[in-house]
Amino acid sequence: MTERKPILRVKDLKVYYHTDRGSVRAVDGVSFTMHEGESFGIVGESGCGKSTMAMALLGLVVSPGTIEGGQIFLDGTDIFTLDRELIRKIRWSQISFIPQGAMNSLNPVMRIGSQIADVITTHQGYQPEKILRKRIQKLLSTVGLPHRVYRMYPHELSGGMKQRVCIAMAIVLEPEVIIADEPTSALDVVVQRVVMQTLVDVQERLGAALILIGHDMGLQAQVVNRQAVMYAGKIAEIGEVKTMYKNPLHPYTKLLIESLPTLQLRHDFQGIPGLPPSLLNPPKGCAFSNRCPYVMEHCREAMPKLVEIQPNHFVACHLHSEVIK
Ligand SMILES: Nc1ncnc2c1ncn2[C@@H]1O[C@H](COP(=O)(O)OP(=O)(O)O)[C@@H](O)[C@H]1O
Ligand SMILES: [Mg+2]
Repeated sequence: MTERKPILRVKDLKVYYHTDRGSVRAVDGVSFTMHEGESFGIVGESGCGKSTMAMALLGLVVSPGTIEGGQIFLDGTDIFTLDRELIRKIRWSQISFIPQGAMNSLNPVMRIGSQIADVITTHQGYQPEKILRKRIQKLLSTVGLPHRVYRMYPHELSGGMKQRVCIAMAIVLEPEVIIADEPTSALDVVVQRVVMQTLVDVQERLGAALILIGHDMGLQAQVVNRQAVMYAGKIAEIGEVKTMYKNPLHPYTKLLIESLPTLQLRHDFQGIPGLPPSLLNPPKGCAFSNRCPYVMEHCREAMPKLVEIQPNHFVACHLHSEVIK
């Protein structure tokens, strides 16, 4: 792999939600680096903190959530040192977002063209309608939509088309990083693949880095180069897709991969017995210890650190930290 410039660095990020029942440690010490133009997947079960992390990257954590610690560097700038106005400026133009359930976030009473035009004029100031229309129609073609969508309302579009509109909005200002939070989970399986492919195509054409968030490890692995497996607010394993599928290091990753359906081997979906721990009172040891088939005494006592076992392959598991000791 050619060495590219780091575009996004996350260091020991912690985001908690303060509720009546206590603090929910939604993101609890996450670190990773992304390079220019890279496609990076974050995969994990529902509730493991994926959307919260996306919000933190965009400077959009709101009450009862707070950033409890860590740093996020976007192109070298620590975003926590920026004021709200500056963060608003870089959002969309440097780092853009396709939120979870994005297609429902379109304004039902505004034509698609006007909604995209709003993103442009908010950041780049007034532009004549004719110029905007040309630019937006070209953009619509880029994401595989006909020009007439410019004049249409969200309710006139299918789910897949609405999702393409959201992709168009995310790329209109040519950001360096695009975050897509479960961009296809509301679509049927056939449309999912096509929309996902569109997203990756435009990302590559733009040279932007893409963070693709999802719960379907197999679907995601088809389009990203590198994946991070999240579990209970932490990263369990990060690696290049090819390496990780050949040699998964974390027992959780192993079980996730084994539970993926394959054409050769038809078996009933096994799932992983047990439930993730509550993020309100996380265990003091490894969060996966209560479900792990390889659990050792030590695992319930001490939290494993994320360590690089092979170049670009990181795991947080005592089975491996023992080995390198
Ligand atoms: N506004 C909120 N208030 C309290 N807890 C929240 C809030 N939003 C999310 N959480 C909790 O934070 C954890 C992570 O949620 P989320 O980031 O949405 O996970 P994911 O996107 O992986 O499904 C979950 O336990 C969820 O219940
Ligand atoms: Mg989510």
